[in-house]
Amino acid sequence: MHLSSVILFSGVASAVSLGCAGDDPWSSDSNQNFESRSHELSDDALDSLLADDELGAAAHAPVASVAGGYDDARASERASAEQRHCRRRVRRLRRIIGDQDYELAEAPYVRPSLFVLGQALAFDKELSGNRNISCMSCHHPTLATMDDRHLPLGQGGIGLGIDRRGGDVIPRNAPALFNMAAHKTMFWDSRVALNDRGQLVTPAGAELTPEMQETFEFGVVSAQAMFPVTSNEEMAGHPGDNEIADAASVTQVWERLMLRLGQIPTYRYLFENAYPGTSFDDMTFAHAANAIAGFEVAAFTLTESPWDRFVRGDNDALTHAEVRGALAFFDAGCNNCHGGAMFSDFEHHNTGQPQFGPGKGAGQGGFDDFGRAGVTHDSDDLYRFRTPSLRNVELTAPYGHTGAMRSLEAFVGHYSYPETSLREYDIVAQVNERHLWSTQVDNVEAVLERLDPAVLELRRIRPRRIASFLRTLTADDADALDEFVPPLVPSGLPVAD
Ligand code: HEC
Ligand code: HEC
Repeated sequence: MHLSSVILFSGVASAVSLGCAGDDPWSSDSNQNFESRSHELSDDALDSLLADDELGAAAHAPVASVAGGYDDARASERASAEQRHCRRRVRRLRRIIGDQDYELAEAPYVRPSLFVLGQALAFDKELSGNRNISCMSCHHPTLATMDDRHLPLGQGGIGLGIDRRGGDVIPRNAPALFNMAAHKTMFWDSRVALNDRGQLVTPAGAELTPEMQETFEFGVVSAQAMFPVTSNEEMAGHPGDNEIADAASVTQVWERLMLRLGQIPTYRYLFENAYPGTSFDDMTFAHAANAIAGFEVAAFTLTESPWDRFVRGDNDALTHAEVRGALAFFDAGCNNCHGGAMFSDFEHHNTGQPQFGPGKGAGQGGFDDFGRAGVTHDSDDLYRFRTPSLRNVELTAPYGHTGAMRSLEAFVGHYSYPETSLREYDIVAQVNERHLWSTQVDNVEAVLERLDPAVLELRRIRPRRIASFLRTLTADDADALDEFVPPLVPSGLPVAD
């Protein structure tokens, strides 16, 4: 072995062991990175802690060092200079995180019998009025617990993800179901939430009885699962279609679904197994919803990502480029809304997103979506939507409450010039679901008038760098959830979509 390769090897090895691995921040893995390099360099001029010439050279050093001993010495000098920069940044990042709580709690315990019931129900189209859609049609484990679409296609549709055809168009993007137990509220407008006194507030009001609420083991997550079955477009179907859609109240929807499930002996068995001591005939749909929640919480709570390892003290968990990305995220002020272990304040903000699709019955023609104001009827809440968690965000495109943007870089870039970005939003370029092209709502000035000040206060946004950090929030197993798709469900209905 040549001396030079020994030096090369040891140099790289020690860099790796520091977690400041000397990886090229504009790593050569794509042309796109190369093209925007000059842009990055001008960004770098603003970075007070950075000597980027050194960093760039060090990143290329291993190639140069093959040439000979003199270069090797310079290369290792540069590599150690880079390590110093990197370690300084790691320290700064740790100061920023400080004693704030960035550690994600493990999933609460879910009894296996409850999990098995919940998994069956989540995949069973028996829960939909026309027996043609399940919860997982829009939150599929093979699609990172969502549907890969801008706006979902509800009951009546066929197929999964971008291949799905037909069905009712749903007004909002389907969120992923990761780490639900850490969610303080449910839905883009938090219409299922706990109030200040810890009481559950839902669209069902008093119909969600105290007895039902006592059944809930997973708080708002259990309560949430009561609702998709009551929506005509998502699951129930339309009046005249079936007995669920014809129900006179949500209470009757829930009762009729339990009648259906009670006719399938396997379900009677699974329910009584999951809730020992209670006979099926004494159960309500709250028992079903709670089981589905248990399945979601147990299957989709993922707490092992590079970021989590970094938070727990492992300086090797992030590459240098990712550390710089994290600093860019915090320096820009993204954490003012996307802070904490879930990267969400669970509050509501107007970030200037475009509106299209069928809408939520608001504004002229009913095609607008007033967001949180639709729940509170407070004009201060107009166009405010709940801050989404950024965990596993790499896998959950398209983004925003209408799924208006397909790439992480584009979404982050929107924050640099929110007004221009919204005014010039090009639905044909961004949205690959053609039936949505003609549906954009002309609410732009009304939205911009109410833009959240914290959006305008963001500074020095570096989309690519921030995106490289956001990708460290992807949990190890988030794209390997196929094992949670059951081969069949008690009703015998197909589980493929
Ligand atoms: C037709 C597609 C569709 C179906 C079917 C569906 N969902 Fe959803 N899900 C959505 C959409 C869209 C939202 C966001 C709606 C909103 O915020 O107004 C959502 C929101 C959620 C949320 C809240 C996530 C968050 O971040 O707050 C959970 C949990 C959830 N669904 C679970 C379920 C369960 C359980 C079922 C079956 C009982 C189900 N979904 C059926 C599309 C669907
Ligand atoms: C004022 C609060 C606020 C600030 C500041 C903010 N965000 Fe957001 N973010 C939100 C809200 C609210 C949404 C959802 C908006 C909507 O769809 O209407 C969102 C959506 C997102 C999404 C899409 C996630 C998804 O699953 O759809 C990403 C990515 C994101 N923000 C990243 C960032 C980054 C990076 C920054 C800093 C440059 C930032 N945000 C600053 C509140 C904020």
